[in-house]
Amino acid sequence: MEKIPYGKHYIDEDDIQSVVNVLRNAPLTQGPKVEEFERTVADYVGAKYAVAVSSGTAALHLACMAAELGQGDNVITSPNTFVASANCVLYVGATPQFADIDADTLNISPVSLSKKCIKLGKVAAIIPVHFGGLPCDMPEIKEIANQYGAKIIEDASHALGATYPHGGKVGNCAHSDMTVFSFHPVKIIAAGEGGMITTNDESIYRKLLRLRSHGINKLDDEFECHEEAFSEGATNPWYYEMLELGFNYRITDIQAALALSQLGKLSQFLQKRRQVAKTYDNVFNGLKNIVPAQLVGRENNAHHLYVVRIQFEKLGITRRQFMNKLIERGIICQVHYIPVHLQPYYRNLGYKRGDYPITEYYYQQALSLPEYYSLSSENQYRVVDLIKAIVT
Ligand SMILES: Cc1ncc(COP(=O)(O)O)c(C=O)c1O
Repeated sequence: MEKIPYGKHYIDEDDIQSVVNVLRNAPLTQGPKVEEFERTVADYVGAKYAVAVSSGTAALHLACMAAELGQGDNVITSPNTFVASANCVLYVGATPQFADIDADTLNISPVSLSKKCIKLGKVAAIIPVHFGGLPCDMPEIKEIANQYGAKIIEDASHALGATYPHGGKVGNCAHSDMTVFSFHPVKIIAAGEGGMITTNDESIYRKLLRLRSHGINKLDDEFECHEEAFSEGATNPWYYEMLELGFNYRITDIQAALALSQLGKLSQFLQKRRQVAKTYDNVFNGLKNIVPAQLVGRENNAHHLYVVRIQFEKLGITRRQFMNKLIERGIICQVHYIPVHLQPYYRNLGYKRGDYPITEYYYQQALSLPEYYSLSSENQYRVVDLIKAIVT
C-alpha cells in the first residue's frame, strides 16, 4: 500500500540533470547557479534583490540582523507558526511577542496585532507569517507598523507563488522590508534545504550578502584598513575584510540548480495544489464536524497546507485515534502548528496557556491533510473516503 504523507516533494529527470550538470561542469558552491536562482526568484516575485541562503531559518536570522533588531526590541509574530519564525527573534537577542490569529485566515489578526502594539507601546518589528500559503493582510499590517516605526519581515516560507488580494506576488516587498522563503522539500519547491530573502532596499541587500558569508566585504564595499588593503598603488590580490560578525549561511550551486529546475515547474505545482484543495473543499462542503479552514482567499493561496478543523469531541474520538485510523491505512497527516508559546522553551520564558485563545482553540481542532503535486486523484480519494467514513 502506497504511503500518503501530508506533504512531499516532486523530482523529475530535468531536476536530476540540472544537479548532474553542476556536479560535472560547475563550481559546487559560490558559483553562477546561486546568482541565477536569486535573479529568477527576484524577477518572479517582483522584488529588486534576492539573497539565497542555506535554509528558511537562516533567512529569518539574517533578516532580523539586517533589520538591526537586538536587545530590548519587541518583535511580534504569530503563535500559529513553526518555531523558526519566533526563534530568529531570540537569535538576535530581541524579545518575541505574539498576537493572536484570525479564526478564518489562521494568520495574525490585524485587530489583535493593533491591540498588542498598543499594549507594548514600542514595537521594533513584525513578522507576519503567510500560514499555509495564504497571504496576510499586508496593507493593514503595514499601516499598524507605520504607527510604531516597526519594520516588517514577511515569513513566506509557505507562500512561494501566492498573490496578494490587492495585487502582486508575495515577496515583492511592497508592504515590507524583507520577505523570507523556505525551500525545504515539503514546501512549494525543493532545494534539499534552502532559503531566500527578497528586498527592495539596496543597503539591506548588501548587508545580507555580507552576513551570509562571515560578514566579509561583498560587491564594491569600501576597504576600511587601507594599509592592509593596498600596496604599490593597487589592491592586494589576496585581501578581504570582515566588516561585521556574519555566518556561513551559503547555499550550494547543487541546491540552487535543483531549485532553479523546480522553479520551471512552479506554475504546474501551484495549479495542482489548487486543484487538490478544490477537490477537498467540494467533498467536505456540507459534512458535519469537519470544515475546511482558510476558505477565504483560495485563489491567492499557494496551498502549501490543506488544513481542516475537526470537532473531535463531537465525533467521540480523540485526534490521536483519528490520526491512527488514517495511519493504519497508510495516510500520514500532521498538525500545523503546536502554538509556539506552548513549547516548553517558550513557557520557560513566561508565555502560558490561555494567552492566545483563538490559536489554542484552532490547534485543538487542526489537522493537515495530504496536499502535494504528485498526489494522485485515486490517492486523494483514499484519504477522502476514509475521512468521510470516520466522520459520518
Ligand atoms: C513558517 C515557517 N517559517 C520558517 C521555516 C523554516 O524553514 P527551513 O526549514 O527552511 O529552515 C519553516 C519551516 O518549516 C516554516 O514553516
